[in-house]
Amino acid sequence: MPAAVKKQRASGLLITFEGIDFSGKSLQAELFYQRVVESGNRALALRDPGATSISEKIRAILLDNRHGEMSPWTELLLYEAARAQMIEQSIKPALQRGSVVVCDRLYDSTTAYQGYGRQLDLTLVTAANHIGACGLAPDMTLLIDLPVPIAAERKKQLKRKKDRMENAGDDFQQRVRGGYLKLAADEPGRIHVIQGDQPVELIRDHIWHVFTKRWPEFRD
Ligand SMILES: Nc1ncnc2c1ncn2[C@@H]1O[C@H](COP(=O)(O)OP(=O)(O)OP(=O)(O)O)[C@@H](O)[C@H]1O
Ligand SMILES: [Mg+2]
Repeated sequence: MPAAVKKQRASGLLITFEGIDFSGKSLQAELFYQRVVESGNRALALRDPGATSISEKIRAILLDNRHGEMSPWTELLLYEAARAQMIEQSIKPALQRGSVVVCDRLYDSTTAYQGYGRQLDLTLVTAANHIGACGLAPDMTLLIDLPVPIAAERKKQLKRKKDRMENAGDDFQQRVRGGYLKLAADEPGRIHVIQGDQPVELIRDHIWHVFTKRWPEFRD
């Protein structure tokens, strides 16, 4: 039987990548996705907000630097709206097909950014997250933790224009980082803290080790 068939799971897995801006989420999510594909399993890579036409349009509204007047409540609800669409339209069908869904951010970002960063009432943020999640929870979350000054240095090196969220400032990023670490302490079974101030390949291998320890059927 070919590896692609042998390793196919009956039900999928939802794996999310979290961390402050420039912590290396997108890079590691992509490397992880490639490794899942190489292991012979069906996989889908997404970013939140995004993935569907509706969610990408909401993303553009959220990240637009001209929208400085956006209320933090509007921001919260737009993230939830984009996420609900992505979950119903893309993630749930992929999980039903047995895919490993690799998601660059999900609702932990909302707790960290809108709850801890914007300092909205955490009970309300959690309630909003319940609506946006449409009954789903990640099977595993990789939190790439990075000290804010190192992230700020990476930000400086990158020549591309920064979006509305990335322009929020270092104090905001400190609160977001603290929020993420609190979440990880509260849910150690789901959220794994990965030290982000390491060479890319080392982080990649660490993540694969953590993942295959839990699901050995993906081991090469
Ligand atoms: N381990 C690492 N060491 C050094 N540089 C890294 C490392 N990981 C990522 N980078 C670099 O840091 C920058 C940010 O990486 P990446 O875009 O993956 O972060 P991100 O967490 O997705 O950021 P954002 O939240 O803004 O989307 C990129 O230029 C990337 O090449
Ligand atoms: Mg990214």
